[in-house]
Amino acid sequence: PGWVLALRDGLSKLGLPGKSLEGLLSRWAASISEGGRLEIPQAKGSMNAIAGQAFFIPLYDLFLTYGGIFRLIFGPKSFLIVSDPQIAKHILKDNAKAYSKGILAEILEFVMGKGLIPADGEIWRVRRRAIVPALHQKYVAAMIKLFGEASYRLCEKLDAAASDGEDMEMESLFSRLTLDVIGKAVFNYEFDSLSHDNGIVEAVYISLREAEMRSTSPIPTWEIPIWKDISPRQRKVSQALKLINNTLDDLIAICKKMVEQEDLQFHEEYMNEQDPSILHFLLASGDDVSSKQLRDDLMTMLIAGHETSAAVLTWTFYLLSKSPEVVAKLQDEVDSVLGDEFPRIDDMKKLKYTTRVINESLRLYPQPPVLIRRSLEDDMLGKYPIKRGEDIFISVWNLHRSPKYWVDAEKFNPERWPLDGPNPNESNQNFRTLLVDTGLAYQLDNYVLKGGWSKLSGSINSLPLSYLPFGGGPRKCVGDMFATFETVVATAMLVRRFNFHLAPRAPPVEMTTGATIHTTQGLKMTVTRRTRPPIIPNLEAKVLTFDSGQQQLSSNLL
Ligand code: HEM
Repeated sequence: PGWVLALRDGLSKLGLPGKSLEGLLSRWAASISEGGRLEIPQAKGSMNAIAGQAFFIPLYDLFLTYGGIFRLIFGPKSFLIVSDPQIAKHILKDNAKAYSKGILAEILEFVMGKGLIPADGEIWRVRRRAIVPALHQKYVAAMIKLFGEASYRLCEKLDAAASDGEDMEMESLFSRLTLDVIGKAVFNYEFDSLSHDNGIVEAVYISLREAEMRSTSPIPTWEIPIWKDISPRQRKVSQALKLINNTLDDLIAICKKMVEQEDLQFHEEYMNEQDPSILHFLLASGDDVSSKQLRDDLMTMLIAGHETSAAVLTWTFYLLSKSPEVVAKLQDEVDSVLGDEFPRIDDMKKLKYTTRVINESLRLYPQPPVLIRRSLEDDMLGKYPIKRGEDIFISVWNLHRSPKYWVDAEKFNPERWPLDGPNPNESNQNFRTLLVDTGLAYQLDNYVLKGGWSKLSGSINSLPLSYLPFGGGPRKCVGDMFATFETVVATAMLVRRFNFHLAPRAPPVEMTTGATIHTTQGLKMTVTRRTRPPIIPNLEAKVLTFDSGQQQLSSNLL
Protein backbone atom coordinates (compact mmCIF):
# COMPACT_ATOMS: atom_id res chain seq x y z
CA PRO A 1 0.00 0.00 0.00
CA GLY A 2 0.95 3.66 -0.56
CA TRP A 3 1.44 4.44 3.10
CA VAL A 4 4.01 1.68 3.43
CA LEU A 5 6.01 3.17 0.57
CA ALA A 6 5.76 6.61 2.15
CA LEU A 7 6.93 5.22 5.48
CA ARG A 8 9.84 3.45 3.79
CA ASP A 9 10.91 6.66 2.02
CA GLY A 10 10.62 8.63 5.26
CA LEU A 11 12.72 6.14 7.23
CA SER A 12 15.36 5.77 4.54
CA LYS A 13 15.78 9.56 4.54
CA LEU A 14 16.72 9.16 8.21
CA GLY A 15 19.61 6.98 7.06
CA LEU A 16 18.13 3.48 7.55
CA PRO A 17 19.24 1.04 4.80
CA GLY A 18 16.51 0.77 2.14
CA LYS A 19 16.84 -2.96 1.41
CA SER A 20 16.32 -4.26 4.94
CA LEU A 21 13.56 -1.71 5.45
CA GLU A 22 11.73 -3.06 2.45
CA GLY A 23 11.79 -6.64 3.76
CA LEU A 24 10.72 -5.56 7.22
CA LEU A 25 7.89 -3.35 6.08
CA SER A 26 6.50 -5.79 3.55
CA ARG A 27 6.28 -8.47 6.27
CA TRP A 28 4.62 -6.00 8.56
CA ALA A 29 2.18 -4.85 5.87
CA ALA A 30 1.31 -8.47 5.10
CA SER A 31 0.36 -9.03 8.73
CA ILE A 32 -2.15 -6.20 8.63
CA SER A 33 -5.56 -7.10 7.30
CA GLU A 34 -7.44 -4.98 4.81
CA GLY A 35 -9.48 -3.40 7.59
CA GLY A 36 -6.26 -1.98 9.05
CA ARG A 37 -6.17 -4.38 12.03
CA LEU A 38 -3.11 -6.41 12.83
CA GLU A 39 -3.70 -10.07 12.11
CA ILE A 40 -2.22 -12.98 13.98
CA PRO A 41 0.14 -15.02 11.74
CA GLN A 42 -1.58 -18.10 10.40
CA ALA A 43 -0.10 -21.57 10.18
CA LYS A 44 -2.19 -23.86 8.08
CA GLY A 45 -2.07 -27.40 9.44
CA SER A 46 -3.42 -30.70 8.40
CA MET A 47 -4.59 -33.40 10.78
CA ASN A 48 -2.11 -35.75 9.10
CA ALA A 49 0.83 -33.60 10.17
CA ILE A 50 -0.16 -34.07 13.78
CA ALA A 51 -1.59 -37.58 13.73
CA GLY A 52 0.74 -40.23 15.08
CA GLN A 53 2.83 -37.96 17.27
CA ALA A 54 2.32 -35.97 20.42
CA PHE A 55 0.56 -32.82 19.16
CA PHE A 56 2.72 -30.38 21.14
CA ILE A 57 5.87 -31.45 19.25
CA PRO A 58 4.98 -30.02 15.81
CA LEU A 59 3.80 -26.88 17.65
CA TYR A 60 7.42 -26.26 18.64
CA ASP A 61 8.64 -26.02 15.04
CA LEU A 62 5.68 -23.83 14.16
CA PHE A 63 6.57 -21.56 17.09
CA LEU A 64 10.12 -21.17 15.73
CA THR A 65 8.67 -20.27 12.33
CA TYR A 66 5.65 -18.13 13.24
CA GLY A 67 6.61 -16.74 16.64
CA GLY A 68 5.04 -16.36 20.08
CA ILE A 69 1.45 -16.29 18.86
CA PHE A 70 -0.03 -17.83 15.75
CA ARG A 71 -3.29 -19.28 14.55
CA LEU A 72 -3.58 -22.92 13.61
CA ILE A 73 -6.46 -23.78 11.32
CA PHE A 74 -7.89 -27.25 10.85
CA GLY A 75 -10.84 -27.07 8.46
CA PRO A 76 -13.54 -25.17 10.32
CA LYS A 77 -11.65 -25.18 13.65
CA SER A 78 -9.04 -22.68 14.67
CA PHE A 79 -6.77 -22.41 17.70
CA LEU A 80 -4.43 -19.72 18.91
CA ILE A 81 -1.09 -21.13 19.98
CA VAL A 82 0.68 -18.95 22.54
CA SER A 83 4.37 -19.37 23.35
CA ASP A 84 5.09 -15.80 24.38
CA PRO A 85 5.76 -15.19 28.11
CA GLN A 86 4.11 -11.78 28.16
CA ILE A 87 0.94 -13.01 26.47
CA ALA A 88 0.89 -16.10 28.71
CA LYS A 89 1.02 -13.81 31.71
CA HIS A 90 -1.79 -11.66 30.34
CA ILE A 91 -4.08 -14.67 29.87
CA LEU A 92 -3.21 -16.56 33.06
CA LYS A 93 -2.72 -13.67 35.45
CA ASP A 94 -3.41 -10.08 34.44
CA ASN A 95 -6.72 -10.65 32.66
CA ALA A 96 -7.51 -14.16 33.95
CA LYS A 97 -11.18 -13.33 34.50
CA ALA A 98 -11.65 -12.94 30.74
CA TYR A 99 -10.74 -16.59 30.08
CA SER A 100 -12.42 -19.90 30.85
CA LYS A 101 -11.24 -23.51 30.58
CA GLY A 102 -13.19 -23.89 27.30
CA ILE A 103 -12.65 -27.20 25.52
CA LEU A 104 -10.99 -28.71 28.58
CA ALA A 105 -14.15 -28.28 30.65
CA GLU A 106 -16.22 -29.83 27.84
CA ILE A 107 -13.93 -32.84 27.53
CA LEU A 108 -13.57 -33.49 31.26
CA GLU A 109 -17.21 -32.93 32.18
CA PHE A 110 -18.02 -36.66 32.14
CA VAL A 111 -15.43 -37.45 34.80
CA MET A 112 -14.79 -34.24 36.76
CA GLY A 113 -18.23 -32.60 36.46
CA LYS A 114 -17.81 -29.11 37.92
CA GLY A 115 -14.68 -29.98 39.90
CA LEU A 116 -11.99 -27.37 40.48
CA ILE A 117 -10.01 -27.90 37.26
CA PRO A 118 -12.85 -27.53 34.73
CA ALA A 119 -15.07 -25.21 36.81
CA ASP A 120 -15.32 -21.53 35.93
CA GLY A 121 -16.91 -18.42 37.34
CA GLU A 122 -18.69 -18.45 40.67
CA ILE A 123 -18.54 -22.24 41.20
CA TRP A 124 -14.78 -22.18 40.76
CA ARG A 125 -14.37 -19.18 43.10
CA VAL A 126 -16.38 -20.80 45.91
CA ARG A 127 -14.73 -24.21 45.58
CA ARG A 128 -11.20 -22.80 45.34
CA ARG A 129 -11.80 -20.84 48.54
CA ALA A 130 -12.98 -24.03 50.29
CA ILE A 131 -10.22 -26.34 49.03
CA VAL A 132 -7.02 -24.27 49.20
CA PRO A 133 -7.01 -24.06 53.04
CA ALA A 134 -7.14 -27.88 53.22
CA LEU A 135 -3.60 -28.08 51.81
CA HIS A 136 -2.07 -26.11 54.68
CA GLN A 137 1.56 -26.57 55.79
CA LYS A 138 0.84 -29.01 58.59
CA TYR A 139 -1.11 -31.21 56.18
CA VAL A 140 1.68 -31.21 53.60
CA ALA A 141 4.21 -31.98 56.35
CA ALA A 142 2.07 -34.95 57.47
CA MET A 143 2.03 -36.19 53.89
CA ILE A 144 5.83 -36.66 53.89
CA LYS A 145 5.34 -39.82 55.96
CA LEU A 146 2.80 -41.10 53.46
CA PHE A 147 5.16 -40.38 50.55
CA GLY A 148 7.93 -42.24 52.38
CA GLU A 149 5.77 -45.29 53.13
CA ALA A 150 4.50 -45.59 49.55
CA SER A 151 8.01 -45.11 48.13
CA TYR A 152 9.27 -47.78 50.54
CA ARG A 153 6.68 -50.24 49.19
CA LEU A 154 7.93 -49.51 45.68
CA CYS A 155 11.52 -50.04 46.86
CA GLU A 156 10.55 -53.48 48.22
CA LYS A 157 9.04 -54.38 44.86
CA LEU A 158 12.16 -53.24 43.05
CA ASP A 159 14.34 -55.12 45.49
CA ALA A 160 12.59 -58.37 44.57
CA ALA A 161 13.05 -57.55 40.87
CA ALA A 162 16.73 -56.81 41.45
CA SER A 163 17.11 -60.29 43.00
CA ASP A 164 15.30 -61.94 40.11
CA GLY A 165 17.17 -59.94 37.46
CA GLU A 166 13.81 -58.86 36.07
CA ASP A 167 13.52 -55.54 34.17
CA MET A 168 10.77 -53.25 35.42
CA GLU A 169 8.36 -51.00 33.53
CA MET A 170 8.74 -47.89 35.66
CA GLU A 171 6.01 -45.71 34.14
CA SER A 172 3.21 -47.98 35.34
CA LEU A 173 4.89 -48.41 38.73
CA PHE A 174 5.10 -44.63 39.18
CA SER A 175 1.45 -44.39 38.20
CA ARG A 176 0.59 -46.89 40.95
CA LEU A 177 2.81 -45.19 43.49
CA THR A 178 1.10 -41.84 42.96
CA LEU A 179 -2.37 -43.40 42.86
CA ASP A 180 -1.74 -44.97 46.27
CA VAL A 181 -0.52 -41.64 47.61
CA ILE A 182 -3.31 -39.47 46.25
CA GLY A 183 -6.12 -41.87 47.27
CA LYS A 184 -4.98 -41.73 50.87
CA ALA A 185 -4.18 -37.99 50.78
CA VAL A 186 -7.46 -36.86 49.24
CA PHE A 187 -10.09 -39.21 50.69
CA ASN A 188 -8.31 -41.65 52.96
CA TYR A 189 -8.67 -44.60 50.60
CA GLU A 190 -6.14 -47.41 50.40
CA PHE A 191 -5.92 -48.29 46.69
CA ASP A 192 -2.84 -50.37 47.41
CA SER A 193 -2.37 -50.61 43.67
CA LEU A 194 1.36 -51.31 44.05
CA SER A 195 0.44 -54.68 45.61
CA HIS A 196 -2.52 -55.77 43.51
CA ASP A 197 -5.16 -54.77 41.00
CA ASN A 198 -8.74 -54.63 42.10
CA GLY A 199 -11.96 -53.42 40.52
CA ILE A 200 -11.63 -49.85 41.71
CA VAL A 201 -8.03 -49.45 40.50
CA GLU A 202 -9.13 -50.74 37.13
CA ALA A 203 -12.12 -48.35 37.14
CA VAL A 204 -9.83 -45.38 37.80
CA TYR A 205 -7.62 -46.37 34.87
CA ILE A 206 -10.58 -46.89 32.54
CA SER A 207 -11.84 -43.36 33.34
CA LEU A 208 -8.40 -41.83 32.95
CA ARG A 209 -7.73 -43.49 29.59
CA GLU A 210 -11.15 -42.34 28.42
CA ALA A 211 -10.42 -38.73 29.44
CA GLU A 212 -7.14 -38.91 27.54
CA MET A 213 -8.74 -40.48 24.49
CA ARG A 214 -11.38 -37.74 24.44
CA SER A 215 -8.79 -35.01 24.74
CA THR A 216 -6.88 -36.23 21.69
CA SER A 217 -9.65 -37.59 19.50
CA PRO A 218 -10.67 -35.44 16.51
CA ILE A 219 -14.26 -36.78 16.37
CA PRO A 220 -16.36 -36.80 19.55
CA THR A 221 -18.10 -40.16 18.96
CA TRP A 222 -19.07 -40.30 22.63
CA GLU A 223 -21.52 -37.46 22.05
CA ILE A 224 -23.58 -39.43 19.55
CA PRO A 225 -26.67 -40.45 21.60
CA ILE A 226 -27.11 -44.10 20.51
CA TRP A 227 -23.37 -44.70 20.43
CA LYS A 228 -23.19 -44.09 24.16
CA ASP A 229 -25.49 -47.03 24.77
CA ILE A 230 -24.21 -49.52 22.26
CA SER A 231 -20.45 -48.93 22.26
CA PRO A 232 -18.86 -51.55 24.54
CA ARG A 233 -16.13 -49.05 25.41
CA GLN A 234 -18.63 -46.40 26.49
CA ARG A 235 -20.60 -48.95 28.52
CA LYS A 236 -17.40 -49.93 30.31
CA VAL A 237 -16.68 -46.27 31.02
CA SER A 238 -20.16 -45.75 32.51
CA GLN A 239 -19.75 -48.82 34.72
CA ALA A 240 -16.33 -47.65 35.88
CA LEU A 241 -17.66 -44.20 36.77
CA LYS A 242 -20.55 -45.72 38.63
CA LEU A 243 -18.21 -47.84 40.72
CA ILE A 244 -15.97 -44.84 41.50
CA ASN A 245 -18.95 -42.65 42.41
CA ASN A 246 -20.37 -45.32 44.71
CA THR A 247 -16.99 -45.75 46.38
CA LEU A 248 -16.68 -41.99 46.83
CA ASP A 249 -20.20 -41.80 48.28
CA ASP A 250 -19.26 -44.53 50.78
CA LEU A 251 -16.06 -42.74 51.74
CA ILE A 252 -17.92 -39.46 52.21
CA ALA A 253 -20.48 -41.22 54.43
CA ILE A 254 -17.75 -42.90 56.54
CA CYS A 255 -15.90 -39.62 56.91
CA LYS A 256 -19.09 -37.75 57.86
CA LYS A 257 -19.64 -40.26 60.67
CA MET A 258 -16.06 -39.81 61.89
CA VAL A 259 -16.48 -36.05 61.93
CA GLU A 260 -19.80 -36.31 63.82
CA GLN A 261 -18.17 -38.47 66.51
CA GLU A 262 -15.18 -36.20 66.85
CA ASP A 263 -14.72 -33.67 69.58
CA LEU A 264 -14.14 -31.09 66.92
CA GLN A 265 -12.31 -27.81 67.33
CA PHE A 266 -11.86 -26.47 63.86
CA HIS A 267 -9.03 -24.01 63.21
CA GLU A 268 -6.81 -22.94 60.33
CA GLU A 269 -4.34 -25.82 60.55
CA TYR A 270 -6.93 -28.38 61.62
CA MET A 271 -5.98 -31.97 60.91
CA ASN A 272 -7.33 -35.28 62.16
CA GLU A 273 -4.29 -37.43 62.95
CA GLN A 274 -6.05 -40.72 62.06
CA ASP A 275 -7.39 -39.32 58.84
CA PRO A 276 -5.52 -36.23 57.66
CA SER A 277 -7.25 -36.34 54.23
CA ILE A 278 -8.54 -33.31 52.35
CA LEU A 279 -12.05 -34.80 52.53
CA HIS A 280 -11.88 -34.87 56.33
CA PHE A 281 -10.76 -31.24 56.43
CA LEU A 282 -13.58 -30.17 54.11
CA LEU A 283 -16.26 -31.94 56.13
CA ALA A 284 -14.85 -30.73 59.44
CA SER A 285 -14.74 -27.16 58.13
CA GLY A 286 -18.50 -27.33 57.66
CA ASP A 287 -18.07 -26.91 53.90
CA ASP A 288 -21.62 -26.40 52.72
CA VAL A 289 -21.63 -28.31 49.46
CA SER A 290 -23.77 -30.80 47.56
CA SER A 291 -22.50 -34.37 47.58
CA LYS A 292 -22.25 -34.26 43.76
CA GLN A 293 -19.97 -31.20 43.93
CA LEU A 294 -17.88 -32.79 46.66
CA ARG A 295 -17.51 -35.94 44.57
CA ASP A 296 -16.52 -33.85 41.54
CA ASP A 297 -13.85 -32.07 43.56
CA LEU A 298 -12.45 -35.29 45.01
CA MET A 299 -12.36 -36.93 41.59
CA THR A 300 -10.66 -33.84 40.14
CA MET A 301 -7.95 -33.91 42.77
CA LEU A 302 -7.50 -37.64 42.33
CA ILE A 303 -6.81 -37.15 38.63
CA ALA A 304 -4.89 -33.87 38.99
CA GLY A 305 -2.54 -35.26 41.59
CA HIS A 306 -2.08 -38.71 40.15
CA GLU A 307 -1.02 -38.66 36.51
CA THR A 308 0.95 -35.43 36.83
CA SER A 309 3.24 -36.65 39.61
CA ALA A 310 3.60 -40.04 37.91
CA ALA A 311 4.67 -38.35 34.68
CA VAL A 312 7.18 -36.17 36.53
CA LEU A 313 8.79 -39.26 38.07
CA THR A 314 8.81 -41.13 34.76
CA TRP A 315 10.60 -38.35 32.88
CA THR A 316 12.92 -37.61 35.79
CA PHE A 317 14.13 -41.21 35.78
CA TYR A 318 14.44 -41.15 32.01
CA LEU A 319 16.57 -37.99 32.20
CA LEU A 320 18.65 -39.44 35.02
CA SER A 321 19.35 -42.57 32.97
CA LYS A 322 21.13 -40.30 30.48
CA SER A 323 23.04 -38.26 33.06
CA PRO A 324 25.24 -40.39 35.34
CA GLU A 325 27.02 -37.28 36.65
CA VAL A 326 23.70 -35.90 37.93
CA VAL A 327 22.88 -39.26 39.54
CA ALA A 328 26.24 -39.27 41.35
CA LYS A 329 25.58 -35.81 42.82
CA LEU A 330 22.05 -36.77 43.70
CA GLN A 331 23.16 -39.92 45.52
CA ASP A 332 25.81 -37.96 47.42
CA GLU A 333 23.23 -35.49 48.62
CA VAL A 334 20.68 -38.14 49.57
CA ASP A 335 23.29 -40.17 51.47
CA SER A 336 24.44 -37.20 53.45
CA VAL A 337 20.97 -35.74 54.17
CA LEU A 338 18.92 -38.89 54.75
CA GLY A 339 21.43 -41.61 55.59
CA ASP A 340 19.22 -44.65 56.18
CA GLU A 341 16.29 -42.71 57.62
CA PHE A 342 12.83 -42.04 56.23
CA PRO A 343 12.60 -38.45 54.96
CA ARG A 344 11.08 -35.87 57.30
CA ILE A 345 9.78 -32.39 56.63
CA ASP A 346 13.06 -30.78 57.78
CA ASP A 347 14.91 -32.74 55.11
CA MET A 348 12.91 -31.09 52.35
CA LYS A 349 14.89 -27.89 52.48
CA LYS A 350 18.13 -29.84 52.76
CA LEU A 351 17.47 -31.95 49.65
CA LYS A 352 18.33 -28.95 47.50
CA TYR A 353 19.93 -30.71 44.57
CA THR A 354 17.16 -33.33 44.47
CA THR A 355 14.67 -30.47 44.27
CA ARG A 356 16.64 -28.86 41.41
CA VAL A 357 16.50 -32.19 39.56
CA ILE A 358 12.69 -32.11 39.83
CA ASN A 359 12.57 -28.41 38.85
CA GLU A 360 14.61 -29.16 35.76
CA SER A 361 12.62 -32.25 34.88
CA LEU A 362 9.47 -30.11 35.05
CA ARG A 363 11.07 -27.58 32.73
CA LEU A 364 11.88 -30.16 30.07
CA TYR A 365 8.68 -32.19 30.53
CA PRO A 366 5.97 -29.85 31.81
CA GLN A 367 2.80 -31.64 32.94
CA PRO A 368 0.52 -30.87 31.19
CA PRO A 369 2.59 -29.58 28.24
CA VAL A 370 -0.20 -27.25 27.12
CA LEU A 371 -2.70 -25.13 29.09
CA ILE A 372 -6.13 -24.62 27.56
CA ARG A 373 -8.29 -21.49 27.70
CA ARG A 374 -11.19 -19.83 25.83
CA SER A 375 -11.68 -16.05 25.63
CA LEU A 376 -14.93 -14.87 27.23
CA GLU A 377 -14.70 -11.40 25.70
CA ASP A 378 -12.83 -9.48 23.00
CA ASP A 379 -9.29 -8.77 24.14
CA MET A 380 -5.80 -7.74 22.99
CA LEU A 381 -3.07 -10.39 22.99
CA GLY A 382 0.15 -8.43 22.61
CA LYS A 383 -0.46 -6.22 19.61
CA TYR A 384 -3.25 -8.41 18.21
CA PRO A 385 -6.97 -7.98 18.83
CA ILE A 386 -8.87 -11.23 19.42
CA LYS A 387 -12.57 -12.01 19.53
CA ARG A 388 -14.65 -13.64 22.22
CA GLY A 389 -14.82 -17.43 21.87
CA GLU A 390 -11.23 -18.05 20.71
CA ASP A 391 -9.77 -21.39 21.78
CA ILE A 392 -6.25 -20.90 23.07
CA PHE A 393 -3.41 -23.32 23.80
CA ILE A 394 -0.60 -21.90 25.90
CA SER A 395 2.37 -24.11 25.09
CA VAL A 396 4.34 -24.48 28.31
CA TRP A 397 6.52 -26.92 26.38
CA ASN A 398 7.55 -24.09 24.00
CA LEU A 399 8.03 -21.56 26.80
CA HIS A 400 10.22 -23.98 28.74
CA ARG A 401 12.34 -24.91 25.73
CA SER A 402 12.53 -21.57 23.98
CA PRO A 403 16.14 -20.93 22.87
CA LYS A 404 15.36 -17.26 23.40
CA TYR A 405 14.84 -17.64 27.14
CA TRP A 406 17.04 -20.54 28.13
CA VAL A 407 20.75 -21.11 27.75
CA ASP A 408 21.23 -24.63 26.27
CA ALA A 409 17.45 -25.02 26.40
CA GLU A 410 17.47 -28.72 25.48
CA LYS A 411 20.08 -29.68 28.07
CA PHE A 412 19.08 -31.39 31.33
CA ASN A 413 21.03 -29.15 33.65
CA PRO A 414 19.80 -28.98 37.26
CA GLU A 415 22.76 -26.66 37.91
CA ARG A 416 21.05 -23.87 35.99
CA TRP A 417 19.38 -22.95 39.27
CA PRO A 418 21.77 -22.19 42.10
CA LEU A 419 21.31 -24.26 45.23
CA ASP A 420 21.17 -21.21 47.45
CA GLY A 421 18.57 -19.48 45.28
CA PRO A 422 14.84 -19.76 45.84
CA ASN A 423 12.83 -22.75 44.72
CA PRO A 424 12.14 -21.70 41.13
CA ASN A 425 8.52 -20.94 40.35
CA GLU A 426 6.47 -18.87 37.93
CA SER A 427 6.95 -15.59 39.71
CA ASN A 428 10.54 -15.66 40.90
CA GLN A 429 12.08 -17.08 37.72
CA ASN A 430 10.69 -14.83 35.15
CA PHE A 431 13.15 -12.04 35.55
CA ARG A 432 15.07 -14.34 33.22
CA THR A 433 12.83 -13.24 30.39
CA LEU A 434 13.55 -9.58 31.04
CA LEU A 435 17.26 -10.16 31.12
CA VAL A 436 17.04 -12.05 27.87
CA ASP A 437 15.07 -9.24 26.31
CA THR A 438 17.72 -6.76 27.38
CA GLY A 439 20.52 -8.99 26.07
CA LEU A 440 21.80 -10.15 29.46
CA ALA A 441 20.80 -13.80 29.26
CA TYR A 442 24.26 -15.27 29.33
CA GLN A 443 25.33 -13.27 32.36
CA LEU A 444 22.28 -14.39 34.30
CA ASP A 445 23.58 -17.53 35.97
CA ASN A 446 26.80 -15.85 37.05
CA TYR A 447 24.94 -12.83 38.27
CA VAL A 448 22.60 -14.84 40.45
CA LEU A 449 25.46 -16.97 41.72
CA LYS A 450 27.31 -13.86 42.82
CA GLY A 451 24.44 -12.80 45.02
CA GLY A 452 22.54 -10.69 42.51
CA TRP A 453 19.39 -12.53 43.39
CA SER A 454 18.21 -10.19 46.09
CA LYS A 455 18.59 -7.21 43.76
CA LEU A 456 16.45 -8.91 41.17
CA SER A 457 13.64 -10.30 43.21
CA GLY A 458 12.09 -6.91 43.97
CA SER A 459 9.70 -6.15 41.15
CA ILE A 460 8.98 -9.69 40.06
CA ASN A 461 5.23 -9.33 39.95
CA SER A 462 5.26 -7.40 36.74
CA LEU A 463 7.35 -9.94 34.90
CA PRO A 464 6.30 -12.29 32.11
CA LEU A 465 5.90 -16.04 32.56
CA SER A 466 8.63 -18.19 31.02
CA TYR A 467 8.82 -20.94 33.69
CA LEU A 468 5.46 -22.10 34.92
CA PRO A 469 5.63 -25.71 36.07
CA PHE A 470 2.44 -25.34 38.09
CA GLY A 471 0.66 -22.72 35.96
CA GLY A 472 0.20 -19.19 37.26
CA GLY A 473 -2.34 -16.63 38.39
CA PRO A 474 -5.60 -17.52 40.13
CA ARG A 475 -5.81 -20.98 38.52
CA LYS A 476 -2.36 -22.03 39.68
CA CYS A 477 -2.05 -25.60 40.96
CA VAL A 478 -3.18 -26.02 44.56
CA GLY A 479 -0.91 -29.06 44.99
CA ASP A 480 2.44 -27.55 44.01
CA MET A 481 4.17 -28.05 47.35
CA PHE A 482 2.55 -31.45 47.86
CA ALA A 483 3.73 -32.60 44.44
CA THR A 484 7.24 -31.21 44.79
CA PHE A 485 7.76 -33.01 48.12
CA GLU A 486 6.16 -36.18 46.84
CA THR A 487 8.45 -36.39 43.81
CA VAL A 488 11.51 -35.35 45.84
CA VAL A 489 10.85 -38.05 48.47
CA ALA A 490 10.25 -40.77 45.88
CA THR A 491 13.32 -39.84 43.82
CA ALA A 492 15.55 -39.61 46.90
CA MET A 493 14.42 -42.96 48.33
CA LEU A 494 14.77 -44.78 45.02
CA VAL A 495 18.22 -43.52 44.04
CA ARG A 496 19.44 -44.15 47.58
CA ARG A 497 18.82 -47.88 47.20
CA PHE A 498 19.15 -48.59 43.50
CA ASN A 499 20.87 -47.75 40.26
CA PHE A 500 18.58 -47.44 37.25
CA HIS A 501 19.55 -48.00 33.63
CA LEU A 502 17.46 -48.25 30.48
CA ALA A 503 16.99 -51.98 29.95
CA PRO A 504 19.24 -53.34 27.17
CA ARG A 505 16.39 -54.41 24.91
CA ALA A 506 13.97 -51.68 25.99
CA PRO A 507 11.80 -50.15 23.28
CA PRO A 508 12.82 -46.57 22.38
CA VAL A 509 11.42 -44.02 24.83
CA GLU A 510 9.14 -41.78 22.80
CA MET A 511 6.42 -39.34 23.80
CA THR A 512 2.70 -39.37 23.36
CA THR A 513 0.07 -37.17 24.95
CA GLY A 514 -2.98 -37.59 26.99
CA ALA A 515 -3.46 -35.00 29.67
CA THR A 516 0.21 -35.42 30.57
CA ILE A 517 3.20 -36.64 28.56
CA HIS A 518 3.33 -40.44 28.47
CA THR A 519 5.86 -42.74 26.87
CA THR A 520 4.61 -44.66 23.85
CA GLN A 521 5.84 -48.05 25.07
CA GLY A 522 6.75 -47.64 28.70
CA LEU A 523 10.02 -46.96 30.50
CA LYS A 524 11.68 -50.31 30.87
CA MET A 525 14.59 -50.19 33.29
CA THR A 526 17.15 -52.53 34.78
CA VAL A 527 17.27 -51.98 38.50
CA THR A 528 20.33 -53.01 40.47
CA ARG A 529 20.97 -52.69 44.19
CA ARG A 530 23.34 -49.92 44.94
CA THR A 531 26.57 -50.93 46.54
CA ARG A 532 27.93 -47.91 48.26
CA PRO A 533 31.60 -47.24 47.64
CA PRO A 534 33.67 -48.71 50.49
CA ILE A 535 34.87 -46.11 52.94
CA ILE A 536 38.60 -45.92 52.47
CA PRO A 537 40.24 -44.58 55.59
CA ASN A 538 42.27 -41.51 54.92
CA LEU A 539 45.81 -42.45 55.97
CA GLU A 540 46.78 -38.95 56.94
CA ALA A 541 43.69 -38.61 59.10
CA LYS A 542 44.48 -41.99 60.64
CA VAL A 543 47.91 -40.85 61.82
CA LEU A 544 46.49 -37.63 63.18
CA THR A 545 43.60 -39.26 64.94
CA PHE A 546 45.74 -41.99 66.45
CA ASP A 547 47.52 -39.19 68.20
CA SER A 548 44.39 -37.61 69.43
CA GLY A 549 42.57 -40.69 70.62
CA GLN A 550 40.52 -43.67 69.58
CA GLN A 551 37.18 -41.93 69.63
CA GLN A 552 38.15 -39.50 66.90
CA LEU A 553 39.54 -42.28 64.74
CA SER A 554 36.32 -44.20 64.79
CA SER A 555 34.25 -41.14 63.92
CA ASN A 556 36.53 -40.64 60.93
CA LEU A 557 35.93 -44.13 59.69
CA LEU A 558 32.18 -44.14 60.08
C1 HEM B 1 -3.93 -27.09 38.47
C2 HEM B 1 0.41 -28.99 37.45
C3 HEM B 1 0.00 -32.00 41.23
C4 HEM B 1 -4.39 -30.24 42.14
C5 HEM B 1 -2.70 -27.32 37.91
C6 HEM B 1 -2.14 -26.56 36.83
C7 HEM B 1 -0.94 -27.11 36.53
C8 HEM B 1 -0.73 -28.20 37.44
C9 HEM B 1 0.03 -26.68 35.43
C10 HEM B 1 -2.78 -25.35 36.14
C11 HEM B 1 -3.74 -25.78 35.07
C12 HEM B 1 -4.27 -24.62 34.27
O1 HEM B 1 -3.97 -23.46 34.53
O2 HEM B 1 -5.03 -24.89 33.32
C13 HEM B 1 0.64 -29.99 38.38
C14 HEM B 1 1.82 -30.81 38.39
C15 HEM B 1 1.71 -31.66 39.45
C16 HEM B 1 0.45 -31.37 40.11
C17 HEM B 1 2.96 -30.71 37.39
C18 HEM B 1 2.65 -32.73 39.92
C19 HEM B 1 3.95 -32.67 39.78
C20 HEM B 1 -1.20 -31.73 41.86
C21 HEM B 1 -1.65 -32.34 43.08
C22 HEM B 1 -2.90 -31.86 43.33
C23 HEM B 1 -3.21 -30.93 42.26
C24 HEM B 1 -0.86 -33.35 43.90
C25 HEM B 1 -3.84 -32.13 44.48
C26 HEM B 1 -3.48 -32.45 45.66
C27 HEM B 1 -4.65 -29.28 41.19
C28 HEM B 1 -5.92 -28.58 41.09
C29 HEM B 1 -5.79 -27.65 40.05
C30 HEM B 1 -4.44 -27.82 39.52
C31 HEM B 1 -7.14 -28.80 41.96
C32 HEM B 1 -6.85 -26.67 39.55
C33 HEM B 1 -6.71 -25.36 40.28
C34 HEM B 1 -7.72 -24.33 39.83
O3 HEM B 1 -8.13 -24.33 38.66
O4 HEM B 1 -8.09 -23.49 40.65
N1 HEM B 1 -1.82 -28.31 38.29
N2 HEM B 1 -0.17 -30.36 39.41
N3 HEM B 1 -2.16 -30.87 41.39
N4 HEM B 1 -3.79 -28.81 40.23
FE1 HEM B 1 -1.95 -29.50 39.90
